[in-house]
Amino acid sequence: MGLSSCFASAFSSLNLVLFLFIGLKAMECRSVERSSAFFIFGDSSVDPGNNNYIQTIPDNQANYKPYGQNGFFEEPTGRFSDGRIIVDYLAEYAKLPTIPPFLQPSADYSNGVNFASGGGGVLPTTNQGLVIDLPTQLKYFEDVRKSLADKFGSAEAEEIVSNAVYFISIGSNDYMGGYLGNPKMQELHSPQEYIGMVIGNMTQAIQELYGKGARKFGFLSLSPLGCLPALRALNPKGPDAGCFEEASALALAHNSALKTILTNLELLLKDFKYCNSNFYDWLLDRMNNPSNYGFKEGVSACCGAGPYGGIFTCGGTKKDPNYELCGNANEHVWFDSFHPTERIHDQFANALWNGPQSSVGPYNLEKLFFFFSNNDNKLTIADDVDNPDNYQQIF
Ligand SMILES: *[C@@H]1O[C@H](CO)[C@@H](O)[C@H](O)[C@H]1NC(C)=O
Repeated sequence: MGLSSCFASAFSSLNLVLFLFIGLKAMECRSVERSSAFFIFGDSSVDPGNNNYIQTIPDNQANYKPYGQNGFFEEPTGRFSDGRIIVDYLAEYAKLPTIPPFLQPSADYSNGVNFASGGGGVLPTTNQGLVIDLPTQLKYFEDVRKSLADKFGSAEAEEIVSNAVYFISIGSNDYMGGYLGNPKMQELHSPQEYIGMVIGNMTQAIQELYGKGARKFGFLSLSPLGCLPALRALNPKGPDAGCFEEASALALAHNSALKTILTNLELLLKDFKYCNSNFYDWLLDRMNNPSNYGFKEGVSACCGAGPYGGIFTCGGTKKDPNYELCGNANEHVWFDSFHPTERIHDQFANALWNGPQSSVGPYNLEKLFFFFSNNDNKLTIADDVDNPDNYQQIF
């Protein structure tokens, strides 16, 4: 009796559950056909080796040892890590092959492509002439869009573009080299003004992609820049003074402006969906409490020289051939003076992929890759799936 009355009172929601179940099954089948493609824009945090193919300085390249030393890839690829980077994990979760660098001559664009460039910024003035800046990355995307249309026909190419996930991780270089390392820029623009320019140009980039059909976006917000080993070592108050607060403040203000912009874009642009997260606090927590997350060292780089390994000499091909290398990169949050270890990339990819709404949102990347299609009828089902109340009924 108790059981049947329970069913009776839940009758209408049961219908919904069945309906959703069928909907989910239908989408599962579709996603076997073709997973959402993955397009990546950004800086060294997500560069898989584009800078191997441009004229630049060794600071902006990582295609030499000890980069890639853990052997996941046969040789150093240009990733600024001891192994994989966040987008490698995300591609794997999305059931995609490794996403190739755009400039790699043999690159196949069918599953997406990666335009990121170490040292690159939102503003063309950041490391000008040495990197692929965001506006140029967008031009390359347009080339790819055309080549997809040539290969698959315009209808299928449009579907690939609208179902793809666009991941953007950029801005650190605009504030480090582009502003704090550039007295002239500081004379020209107050910090507020400069942040406004970076965010303004980034917003334009997002809108441009949206205009070309992009709908699903992922963002890696900025880390506590002043706590990177390089910036700790450069702290104007001295190398023992801790994090370089001015740099971290720029990152915090940028993240907060980005958050606001994304909330507004979601209201203004139909079907615009995104995943954002608080990388700042997430990483700060690991630096301050490394042992809670399986690390032994949260402050000093595994590879580098001087205080905190903060002098950027990893690999010895830069200005200074001297560098030290730790015994076990897995124990470190930081691999070199600016870049985290593979383990951090792994942990953060996990958080973005299936993190709860309280820390990643409004959607996590798993939902963006698998639960949304931009064909109108399917979107209705997906919208229901995404209502947290319905989730509780399913699981
Ligand atoms: C983009 O950046 C340039 C400087 O490179 C600036 O003059 C312009 O105002 C920015 N655009 C927006 C929309 O903020």
